[in-house]
Amino acid sequence: MNIVLLGAPGAGKGTQAALLEKKYNLVHISTGDIFRANIKGGTPIGKVAKSYIDAGQLVPDSVTCDIVKDRLQQEDVKAGYMLDGFPRNLFQAQELDKFARVDACINISVDPALLMDRICGRRVCSCGASYHVSTLGGRTTCEKCGKPLYQRDDDNPETVGARLKTYQTQTAPLIDYYGAQGKLITIECGTASPDGVFAMICEKLDAIIK
Ligand code: AP5
Ligand code: MG
Repeated sequence: MNIVLLGAPGAGKGTQAALLEKKYNLVHISTGDIFRANIKGGTPIGKVAKSYIDAGQLVPDSVTCDIVKDRLQQEDVKAGYMLDGFPRNLFQAQELDKFARVDACINISVDPALLMDRICGRRVCSCGASYHVSTLGGRTTCEKCGKPLYQRDDDNPETVGARLKTYQTQTAPLIDYYGAQGKLITIECGTASPDGVFAMICEKLDAIIK
């Protein structure tokens, strides 16, 4: 099964992808993670991506679509994958339809008022773990591997404001795009915990898989 995970910045795409990856054995492909790895490695793609990410804007489609197309040609995705953060506008969605099959789009819907605090309070580890300061009790290292936690460069109020605007204008129209294809599964999260949201997603996916 091939899934698109849709949702505003901070909606919980990465959190849910980590849970879904284990349960359904789907490969997790996050374009944001790919760009951050390129920035860290100082690659040409990283140099292009950094200015857009810092400004809360989308990295150009030509760069992003090629990365995803290449990634989906690798052997490990044959049994199924989740795209986290791609597509992010109508052009990317139409391109994706040319080179891959999407079975379902999970739209993680969260009250926008919660997003700024979630993102600005997020602390991450290089091992991939993610936390919120409110649950860390002052701890500054990762519970899983002991490495120091840090804040993403784009997790500051100014950039988050721009990211949320970019989502509204460019990405939110994809809800209707996948709705029209009959592939949309919307999860109204309310105040549910990550495990609660996961349970809601599993219920919907299990019904499709049967
Ligand atoms: P990307 O890395 O994709 O960032 P994003 O979409 O802004 O989303 P986040 O990673 O911030 O949030 P998330 O939904 O994964 O939430 P998380 O699970 O971490 O993209 C970054 C940038 O790269 C873009 O701005 C753009 O510049 C560029 N880019 C990427 N893809 C692109 C593309 N296709 N085209 C062009 N440019 C692209 O959760 C957030 C926080 O909330 C955490 O602290 C978590 O612990 C907490 N949390 C999660 N779930 C819950 C819950 N249920 N209750 C309470 N807290 C929760
Ligand atoms: Mg993420």
